[in-house]
Amino acid sequence: MDKKLEQIIELDKKYYLNTFGARTPVCFERGEGIYLYDTAGERYTDFFAGIAVNALGHGNPVVVNAIKEQAEKLIHCSNLYYNEPQAKLAELICENSCADKVFFANSGAEANEGAMKLARIYYKKKYGKDTKKNTFICLNKSFHGRTITTATATGQDKYKLPYAPLTPGFKHVDINDIAQLENAVDETVCGIILEPVQGESGVYPLTQEYAKRARELCDEKDMLLIFDEVQTGIGRTGRLFGYEYLGIEPDIFTLAKALGGGVPIGCLCAKGDVTRGFDPGDHGTTFGGNPLACAAGYASLKTIIDQRLWENAEKMGNIITNNIYGIYDNSAVREVRHAGLMVAIELSIPYAAEVKKELFEQKFLVGSVGDSILRVLPPLIITEQDCWDFRNAFKLAVRKVSTYAYKKD
Ligand SMILES: Cc1ncc(COP(=O)(O)O)c(C=O)c1O
Repeated sequence: MDKKLEQIIELDKKYYLNTFGARTPVCFERGEGIYLYDTAGERYTDFFAGIAVNALGHGNPVVVNAIKEQAEKLIHCSNLYYNEPQAKLAELICENSCADKVFFANSGAEANEGAMKLARIYYKKKYGKDTKKNTFICLNKSFHGRTITTATATGQDKYKLPYAPLTPGFKHVDINDIAQLENAVDETVCGIILEPVQGESGVYPLTQEYAKRARELCDEKDMLLIFDEVQTGIGRTGRLFGYEYLGIEPDIFTLAKALGGGVPIGCLCAKGDVTRGFDPGDHGTTFGGNPLACAAGYASLKTIIDQRLWENAEKMGNIITNNIYGIYDNSAVREVRHAGLMVAIELSIPYAAEVKKELFEQKFLVGSVGDSILRVLPPLIITEQDCWDFRNAFKLAVRKVSTYAYKKD
């Protein structure tokens, strides 16, 4: 380990309130395209993209220049004044999606909080402040963020039970089970919150049939369909937005991760009547949508749209999946699930952490979920050669891990 890294780790251990466990022992200083460079100058191929953030890779010149130019002019000013980058990014999102209006936040969790607030206040204004129409149906295994309310919406006990008492008004059903969804609907439900593809729990897409039924139920029973597109948005699934992949439109959807090219930004997008839910003073933010974040967002989104990068995501996702299935003697892989470049490789051995570590030894960065799932979320700019390089690294990593895994067993 180089001296600089040693010093950083020492400072981190002493001063950083660690919620991330034993971090991988590396510190990146620089990035270019799909590569990251550590304190020793070693190059890594980034197939995790900051958990689906760096859609354009690192150091994209259009994004970097937009940030530089905006930083020199104005980094922040209050939302009490008009803001050109904010207005332009709002227009770009609305002109390229089903949204009529947007509101900017700083993160995915915050955008989701805004979406839930909008749904509740919309029905209070529609039916009176004492309306019982204020509960949400969410999915088991979903992930919506780390605030108390988004953790409550999240369908995984480990993220919320330590923080009880939780926010009232949430119930959970299984993904793609239409009967369960229908049974959960009653007159108290104001919204159904869905990720088009569940990401954090290991890449589980909604079926088109399920999404269509959810849309119908919302129309029939006067509920709002809310899509959490924090991870699926901006090209990741092989469409610009995940709802396009499912062939229906939500009333509200949220964005974050890839929107800012790495600069923190979240966005609540609303369509039709629900845009009238918030009146001045009902919601707000200090930083959300500031000039710097919106200039970065505009440059990133415009580049992704101009280059139609979702098409590359679709193509490369298919190549990665076929390559992994194509490895001879592939008994270590149970299944590959993917939507565009949201890929999960489910191993048949509970050694995902070990395979991830072996890939790291080969200077490939990926993520893992639980014991047996590898999460692969490369930048949307990868080439066919990058997919082959990943396949070869994966094959070697699995071979190594299988050797000692079977010895251990
Ligand atoms: C679908 C989804 N929603 C919400 C979040 C929370 O976003 P943030 O970490 O920016 O608050 C995430 C983060 O992984 C996510 O994947």
